[in-house]
Amino acid sequence: MCEWGLVVRCFRTKLSSFAVFTRQGRVYDPFHRSDPHHENGDMKMEAIQITEALIRGRHSKRGFLDRPVPIETVRDILSVAKYAPSSSNTQPWRCYVLTGKAREKIAGAAVEAYRADPEGLAPDYPFFPKELPAPFSSRFNTFRGMLGDAQGVHRSDIVGRRRDVERQFRFFDAPVGLIFTMDRRLEWASFICYGCFLQNIMLAARARGLDTCPQQIWSLQSAVLREGLAIPDGEMIVAGMSLGYADNNIPENNMELSKLELDEFVSFVDC
Ligand SMILES: Cc1cc2nc3c(=O)[nH]c(=O)nc-3n(C[C@H](O)[C@H](O)[C@H](O)COP(=O)(O)O)c2cc1C
Repeated sequence: MCEWGLVVRCFRTKLSSFAVFTRQGRVYDPFHRSDPHHENGDMKMEAIQITEALIRGRHSKRGFLDRPVPIETVRDILSVAKYAPSSSNTQPWRCYVLTGKAREKIAGAAVEAYRADPEGLAPDYPFFPKELPAPFSSRFNTFRGMLGDAQGVHRSDIVGRRRDVERQFRFFDAPVGLIFTMDRRLEWASFICYGCFLQNIMLAARARGLDTCPQQIWSLQSAVLREGLAIPDGEMIVAGMSLGYADNNIPENNMELSKLELDEFVSFVDC
């Protein structure tokens, strides 16, 4: 089959169509002007629908099924996520993939460390200012309230809240746990790059029917992760992520969080 025939055929197979590699390893972009198919409105519509479905269909999931994820799938997800933009292509990400006994060992050690000193664990970088200002504080409180209601855990229920934190450190039973680190010498711009990379992972996972929960809480487990994964002091723990097939029968995986209206966060300027 000629290369363009391959492109068209792949494009018709929806999700698999977006990265079309030729035998020479080049990627064809059907929307590029030099591509004879860029005028095709159906393809564009399909691309918009699929992209929007992936973005809008991604939700943080806090409970996963006991269903394995092939390691090849994880490799595929990370292999495409690495195309994230980064400031001057610095690519600040470093990722540890935990499965099987390694995942169990780290989760067990993290829960133990948390139980030993629930209030004493400190993150590798500041999460929020001491006093979260408005309007962020009210969004924060609304979210926490909804999550607590879904989990059936009231704010005053310390035991229940600690049990839920432990679930965080068990990767919510997801079969794959990801830990992300970054060279400590880097600055704020690299966190922006990291966000792009993490979103790519989450969308690439969604495209494969998988779900995720990004978890900065893992930065509290610096000591456990450093020891268990031989992470050098020069790398800060940025976050973790649970990856697997979500259990959509639990209430916390069915929360409908509100997002801002366009006018609330956009200023269109045309002068
Ligand atoms: C940088 C970052 C860190 C997060 N850390 C955690 C975390 O530690 N634990 C958790 O349960 N959710 C965490 N989340 C998920 C957020 O709570 C979630 O994205 C937010 O409530 C919006 O929900 P949505 O992802 O379903 O749109 C994190 C999200 C981001 C982007």
